[in-house]
Amino acid sequence: MTAARDFVRELAHENATFWRGRDVRLDPEAPPVVRREQIRYRMRQGVYNELRSVELIAAWIPYVPEREIRELLPGQLDDEQRHYQLLRTRLFGLGEDPDAYRPLPEWQALFDWLVACRTRPTLEKLAMFQFAGETQSCEGFEALIELAQDVDPETAELYRTQILPDEYRHAAIGRKALSLLADTPAAQERARAACREMNEKIFAAYRAHRARVDRGA
Ligand SMILES: [Fe+2]
Ligand SMILES: [Fe+2]
Repeated sequence: MTAARDFVRELAHENATFWRGRDVRLDPEAPPVVRREQIRYRMRQGVYNELRSVELIAAWIPYVPEREIRELLPGQLDDEQRHYQLLRTRLFGLGEDPDAYRPLPEWQALFDWLVACRTRPTLEKLAMFQFAGETQSCEGFEALIELAQDVDPETAELYRTQILPDEYRHAAIGRKALSLLADTPAAQERARAACREMNEKIFAAYRAHRARVDRGA
């Protein structure tokens, strides 16, 4: 059997391979004005995603009996609430009303599904959200920061200093959960399947997201 730690490394590598070239939300080749609009759209949708993350973690906490994992979740909840407020405030500062934004149905469905997954084993839940999802978020934020640097440096700075470091911590919670719980071949297979399920769903949301930005809706 693969030791849990080695398995976590392998699975992280598989997820990274899945994601190569698949974050279609931003187009690095787009002219600055289009790029700025893509980033602005990310922020609008981001306000919603951060808020739903708070709700999701609150829903999961009672269903995480493993004390050493559970004790990390209130801190994450607090971070996501802060991210929600930071992004919302930034959008107000840019002259927008973030509360008037209609979230994309695909993102709504993804969070509804995740909330409904609360009764699944901790291993599967944390493989999905913290391990697969938050690791991909970190990659996504790295790309966003890079592409926002010239068109909206203040927003780039906000993500770089106030959000990204927390997201790396959230991804580490996922790695810790898997290192503790993915300790049999069957558990490892369940974690791998959960990641696959989550990655496919996020990818579908990314495609819908980009299609809506391109339509200018
Ligand atoms: Fe966040
Ligand atoms: Fe997060």
